[in-house]
Parts: sequence; structure tokens; C-alpha cells
Amino acid sequence: MQTLTVELGDRSYPIYIGTGLLKRPELFTPFIHGNSTIVVSNETVAPLYLKTVQENLTAYKNSDVALPDGENFKTLEVLNQIFTGMLENHCDRRTTLLALGGGVVGDMGGFAAASYQRGINFIQVPTTLLSMVDSSVGGKTGVNHAMGKNMIGAFYQPQCVIIDTETLSTLSDRELSAGLAEVIKYGLIRDPEFLVWLQENMTKLMARDPEALAYAIYQSCQHKADLVAADERETGQRALLNLGHTFGHAIETEMGYGNWLHGEAVAAGTVMAAELSQKMGWLSEADVELVKSLFVLAKLPVEPPAEVSPQAFMKHMKRDKKVQDGVMNLILLRKIGEAVTSNDYDPQALDAVLERV
Ligand code: NAD
Ligand code: GLY
Repeated sequence: MQTLTVELGDRSYPIYIGTGLLKRPELFTPFIHGNSTIVVSNETVAPLYLKTVQENLTAYKNSDVALPDGENFKTLEVLNQIFTGMLENHCDRRTTLLALGGGVVGDMGGFAAASYQRGINFIQVPTTLLSMVDSSVGGKTGVNHAMGKNMIGAFYQPQCVIIDTETLSTLSDRELSAGLAEVIKYGLIRDPEFLVWLQENMTKLMARDPEALAYAIYQSCQHKADLVAADERETGQRALLNLGHTFGHAIETEMGYGNWLHGEAVAAGTVMAAELSQKMGWLSEADVELVKSLFVLAKLPVEPPAEVSPQAFMKHMKRDKKVQDGVMNLILLRKIGEAVTSNDYDPQALDAVLERV
């Protein structure tokens, strides 16, 4: 097992990464302070892993809630199902919530923990590659609104993150690829050496080579932990984690949540950010091709869907959470391995990227 720490003073917490961790109660119990627990999962993950997790919790009064599965259920209405389950089971302020599943369950479970009786303990138990490398770490929690992704939520850190890489054995190939989009992101924004490693090892990752996956997850969590420790509330460098996301969220919202997976939209959005960076004179054509080739190796889209018009992109992008005082901030690549937040990009260059689509 490997351990990393998200350094946040007295709210610091560990990330455990390894195989068979769901069967190790000693990893869970130090972070459960009261005598009751509730496991939030969904109708796909519960039949696979709920029983295994519950076996760690026999010393507690344990209950569970299984949500409907899908990004389209990441709503305030479905969030209320968690609160109802918690009230029906008499969860109190000392109850610990365990979010067992992908990023949707993690974001919703975390938001439920942030707001139930004004805040209770929670543990992230991610089961998709995307949630292992990104969403379970850093405390961004919330739900979508019909008009925008992740528009309602809170920063709320877990007690710990328990990553059992064995759970990836049941994940679909499409979801594995979606997770790789966020792994590639770390290389592009801050680690050119990791990017070279990814180029050389993408075939192994796609074949679920356990050592390669463990390395990619560790490196990704290390990057995420560093950025969160430096800028928990995203007033500066944490925003770099949003490379490709302003374009990507527009794709997800316009296409209807769940039709394009988050990682797929981020891949196509990152290529658009790279194209804009090229128009700014920061990236060469070869650099843009390099970005595309990484996503192609991971079987991810490099073109946005034709259905999203430039006007639709702009409508959604103007509501992005990085808009400040009405000014849109975009994450661009100054060079491969170095991202910047920019609000002085050439608007005509942005139009040209959107029009090309
Ligand atoms: P997801 O949660 O929808 O999971 C993908 C699919 O895999 C679902 O159908 C799920 O039921 C299934 N699944 C989960 N674990 C499985 C397993 N082990 N075996 C078989 N099937 C399994 O999607 P995701 O890609 O994990 O997460 C995407 C979400 O994460 C988006 O809502 C996105 O906005 C959010 N996100 C949040 C952050 C953050 O910092 N909080 C960061 C990135 C993404
Ligand atoms: N996934 C972006 C962030 O956590 O900041």
C-alpha cells in the first residue's frame, strides 16, 4: 500500500492506494468517530462492493442508500434521497458517511456530508479511475443544475481517501478511458516527464497493467494533493486543474448530462484549449498533435460534437465558475507541461477555435 497526505493543517488527511484495501477495516475505523455509519453508493456499485465495505462496519450501526446511476441523476432532487435515507436511519452529527462509487457518488455524498445537520464526517472510497485520480481528492462536492455543471456545492474535505485499485477490474473500457483524460491532464499542466511516461505506457494502462495503473494513480494523486494543499479554495493555481474543463463542461451540459462522459468532454475540450494556445503563439502545431495523440492512444475523442454550436459554447462558457466580474478566465498551455490562467486571450482566436468546430 502507498500513502500520500493532503496537507491542510489540522484538516490534513491520508490517501491510501493499493489492492484489497476494501477488505482492511483498520484503514476505515480510525476515521469513524461516532457509533453509526451510512454508505452512499449507486445501483451499479452497490451489488459489486457494498457488502465488502459493510463487513468493515459491523461494529457500527450501519445503513446505506443506493442512488440511481448516472450523471443525469447528479441533481438536487436525487441528493434529497440521501438526506431522506439519513433521516429515516436516524443518522446524527456523529454519523460517518462513506461515499462508495465514481465521481458522481463522491461529489453527491460529499455534498450531503457537508450539509447534513451542517456537516458530518465523510470518507471517500472511489471505484472509477477518474474518481481515484481526481474527484475523491480535494473536497470539491456538489451537484449539477440544468443550466450548468457542478453549479451548486461546497468545498468540504473528507477524513481520508481509500483507493482499492482492484475495483477497476469491473470498470468498463469506456470509463477507464474517461479516467485517463484526467491523468493526461496532470502531465500537460505540470509534469512533462510524466507525459513522456504516459506516451510510453498508455498501452499498458489501457490493458489494465496493475503496476502501470498504480503508478499513474499515485502520480496523479500526488499532483492533486500538492495543488489542493497550495490553494484549497481555488483562488490561484488549483484552477489549472480545469484545463479543458470550460469547453468540456459546455459539451456535457449542451449534449445532456451523461451522453458525453466527463472525461470524454475534457479530452475534446483540452484539444480546443491547446488549439487556442497555438493561436496565442504558445504551442506549435506539433505540440497540438502531441496533445491529440495522447488522447487518441487512450481512445478518447479529440473533436467536440458537431451538435454544439459556437453560440452554445459561448452561452455555457460565460457561466463557468472561473468567470470573475463578468470576465471569462481560460486555462491554456504556455508550453507542454505548463498551464496558465488567462483572461487576455485574443477573443477572435477563441471565436476561430469555436467556429472551426
Ligand atoms: P460516474 O461516477 O458516473 O461513474 C462512471 C460509471 O461507472 C457509473 O455508471 C458507475 O456506476 C460505474 N462504476 C463506478 N465504479 C465502478 C466499478 N468499480 N465497476 C463497474 N462500474 C463502476 O463517473 P466518474 O467518471 O467516476 O465521475 C465523473 C463525475 O466526477 C462528474 O460528475 C464530474 O463532474 C465529477 N468530477 C468531480 C471532480 C472533483 O474534484 N470533485 C473532479 C473531476 C470530476
Ligand atoms: N477537478 C478540479 C479540482 O478539483 O479542482
